[in-house]
Amino acid sequence: MHNTVKVSDKVYYLGVNDRRTHLFENMWPIPNGVSYNSYLIVDEKVALVDTIEFGSSDDYLDKIEEILGERTIDYLIINHMEPDHSGSIKKVVEKYPDIKLIGNLKTFKIVESYFGYKDNWYQIEDGTELDLGHHVMKFVMTPWVHWPETMMTFDLTERILFSGDAFGSWGTLDGGIFDDEIEFEDYYLDDMRRYYSNIVGKYSNMVQKAFKKLDGYDIRTICATHGPIWRKDVNKVIFLYDKWSKFETEDGVVIIYGSMYGNTEKMADVIARKLSEQGIKKIRIHDASKTHLSYLINDIWRYKGVILGSCAYNSGMLPTMENLTRTLEHMGVKDHLLGLFGSYSWNGGGVKSLFKFHENMDWELVSDPVDTKGIPGDEAFAKCEVIANAMADKLKI
Ligand code: FEO
Repeated sequence: MHNTVKVSDKVYYLGVNDRRTHLFENMWPIPNGVSYNSYLIVDEKVALVDTIEFGSSDDYLDKIEEILGERTIDYLIINHMEPDHSGSIKKVVEKYPDIKLIGNLKTFKIVESYFGYKDNWYQIEDGTELDLGHHVMKFVMTPWVHWPETMMTFDLTERILFSGDAFGSWGTLDGGIFDDEIEFEDYYLDDMRRYYSNIVGKYSNMVQKAFKKLDGYDIRTICATHGPIWRKDVNKVIFLYDKWSKFETEDGVVIIYGSMYGNTEKMADVIARKLSEQGIKKIRIHDASKTHLSYLINDIWRYKGVILGSCAYNSGMLPTMENLTRTLEHMGVKDHLLGLFGSYSWNGGGVKSLFKFHENMDWELVSDPVDTKGIPGDEAFAKCEVIANAMADKLKI
């Protein structure tokens, strides 16, 4: 069993790496891939915790058989029903027909709609405990992190938290599987923030509620459904998820613009230069028509200052900027400083639409928006400098 990885004496890691998929949820780029993590607890009773995406089921089942031999699986604990984790349920049930599916009522409504199962359930409630022999599992309802049925399973015996998507990350596990075996800051931090902000961020208030539910639990190991297993420094990943779900940011600025003919882009460059002259070192500029929304959201989650620019397009914003602002409104992103700028050739509309975004979001506008006709000149650039100086002043407070 040269490929067997153990979390502890009776707990096995059964994850697979996906280096083929380009877009997670057919939407979010994952250039560094993703792992789908499942776990097997081989006690007097055998429990599987979540499964994996459909594509790798054969290897997955082989690996389970390699560990269990003739033994069967008694329980499948479904912490989360999204297909990247439920994709192999059907194959598992086919191979182990006496298995009991463990989940809450919301889980089973989704299970039934996906698989039609009605009589192999074992429905649990918040706080229900399940004795496997040596391990005692406790179920903690943490709904809307990020689906309605999401829950976590805490192993009271070894203090392992099977956390579902929470505390997860994009990025495959290339040899190193545990936090003490990887260079987290170099290889995972940015992917983890992008995963959090893109997938879970909208439900940040529910993440905070989940933290309150977990308060008092002495968590020694965190086994998420994606990314590394945390056993050396669980507080690091808890700190990051707590920070991101409170919308706590760094003192930097991301400038994102939509520009058809380069006029709005020129203003972005001037604002960035003036910010730099004011001592701001963390500055990123993105063209919303080129950089995927996923990365724009990631930098907005990272930096306190957000400066948005758009040319006019059909009396509104450039559609790529409209997509960004609509997504941010939908996500309910909080607590940013905002600057607005843009340009037009005839009747405007880009900056006016950005201002409506400001009104909807209630982010603090650091100074008046700048809207210029045609190619920006000294007057427009001077106004851009006002935005940069105001933003820098606010960040230095
Ligand atoms: Fe990794 Fe929400 O599924």
